[in-house]
Amino acid sequence: MERKKYVIFTAAGSGTRMKASEPKQFLLLDGLPVLHRSIFAFLDACPDVKVVTVLPKEHIARWEELCLKYPLNVPQRIVPGGITRFHSVKNALAKVPDGAVVAVHDGVRPLVSAALIREMFARMETCRALIPVLPVTDTLKSLDRGADGALKASGLPDPDRAMVYGAQTPQMFLSEELKAAYTLPYDTSYTDDASVAAKYGIPLSFIEGERKNIKLTTPEDMELAGYFLNLR
Ligand code: C5P
Repeated sequence: MERKKYVIFTAAGSGTRMKASEPKQFLLLDGLPVLHRSIFAFLDACPDVKVVTVLPKEHIARWEELCLKYPLNVPQRIVPGGITRFHSVKNALAKVPDGAVVAVHDGVRPLVSAALIREMFARMETCRALIPVLPVTDTLKSLDRGADGALKASGLPDPDRAMVYGAQTPQMFLSEELKAAYTLPYDTSYTDDASVAAKYGIPLSFIEGERKNIKLTTPEDMELAGYFLNLR
């Protein structure tokens, strides 16, 4: 039997690097909140996907207001976030049943294409975990900060660029396996779901990500996202 599809939107970060008065997932991007655009990307690709949204507790009322102003027209489970991304995803997974395919997507990646989402759900018929990655194009340096705060060579070898890839979202898993992985105790190295799944022993498969699927982090990213949207 075909597995049901779920998507968790992580949007419970503090977003201090955006330097905006409104949380970055609520900023308007070409007339629609960023988080709406991320959700619509999934609904366009897969209209029957079930939506779980994780937000800071103190922003849930604002999100409900925005959903009245800009209707989503799909049922949505709203979950309060946790202290780290790991804790936020763990809270959201409690709303996802076993036996589904679950995608976890950063709420601030509104430009993911419907084609990538569809292809990933299709590949999940034969994969246990699927992660979009891109080769790194910059040369990498191993640095740390001295007591005065200035950057300096760490003395460790620089990472070999040919062997390093950047991981994006959405990342997809079998829900019962990801829920089992999230019973692991928290570790600071868990900056995405693939790192938790790998630690638990779930074999990861990879797919080429998309350059335009940027994670909106700084004010410059908003400008870039506006530019990409207007190219569509
Ligand atoms: O930490 P980073 O900036 O990579 O955040 C990735 C995603 O995780 C963002 O969408 C952010 O809102 C989310 N997050 C969360 N709960 C936290 C911290 C981050 O949902 N406590």
